[in-house]
Amino acid sequence: MFTQQIGRNGRHVGQVARRLARAGQVRGYAAPASSGGGFRRATSMALVGLTFSTVGAAGMWYTLQQSGMGFFSDEDSLKRFVPGDDEARLVEETINKHPLVAELRANPNLTESRPHMKMPVSYRSHTLTGAALAGPGKMAVPPYVWLEEGGKSIVCISYVGDDLCGHPGIVHGGFLATMLDEGLARCCFGALPHNIAVTANLSVDYRKPTPAGSFLVLRATTTKVDGRKAWVKGHIELLADPGEKPAILTEATGLFISPKYASMMPKIA
Ligand SMILES: *[C@@H]1O[C@H](CO)[C@@H](O)[C@H](O)[C@H]1NC(C)=O
Ligand SMILES: *[C@@H]1O[C@H](CO)[C@@H](O)[C@H](O)[C@H]1NC(C)=O
Repeated sequence: MFTQQIGRNGRHVGQVARRLARAGQVRGYAAPASSGGGFRRATSMALVGLTFSTVGAAGMWYTLQQSGMGFFSDEDSLKRFVPGDDEARLVEETINKHPLVAELRANPNLTESRPHMKMPVSYRSHTLTGAALAGPGKMAVPPYVWLEEGGKSIVCISYVGDDLCGHPGIVHGGFLATMLDEGLARCCFGALPHNIAVTANLSVDYRKPTPAGSFLVLRATTTKVDGRKAWVKGHIELLADPGEKPAILTEATGLFISPKYASMMPKIA
């Protein structure tokens, strides 16, 4: 079991960072200040539209595209996160030296990225997983993703800290459902028109409690594609030491649909 109480090491630094983050209205991961900040007003106005209707969402993406707000490439996304405290530094180091990561990086069929770091700051700061659930004590670093071409499969490695619990010391099930929702959707993007999808349904089975302070591996495969629909199956397991069988914590299946307005949505995968 690859569980570590990294959170405590960075706690004091984390609290300071949180106060600073609130003061500066910057949520989630620290990033270069220059990235996309100029579009904040257009973005927040447009994001209000998203909550009202599909028409509102389409309007938002149209506004973003018109204002020239582009997303960063897979390659650039890997360079954009700078750990801001001891917790994040230790998590980065642990992930980067893990044998599974070496194996994934050596596989020519996979493309590595950090999807949240593809988003401009003004977009990411309004997202659930790129801002509200990100940062010290939560998802301390942006997850790493390896995607197989054509939306066939995904492997995602992340770390969940001490502050996203339901029961004490146990990660909240809704957080895991959110991870599965996003991971399974991202898995099939490449199999669908316009490389994007929204969730039609998601079924989650909780097998074992997920300890806080864990490195998590999400694995998923697209099992069927029919026009604008894709069915995906996946699970979250603990990052295992070499030779150890990973403990499966949570399993899920979902149906994802590329919406009719997909051509206007930003390409986030
Ligand atoms: C890459 O994909 C090809 C074709 O599906 C497969 O034969 C090969 O084993 C894959 N390579 C790895 C390292 O998984
Ligand atoms: C999801 O929707 C599909 C198509 O309507 C359906 O076949 C499947 O049973 C649904 N899955 C769940 C878990 O509701």
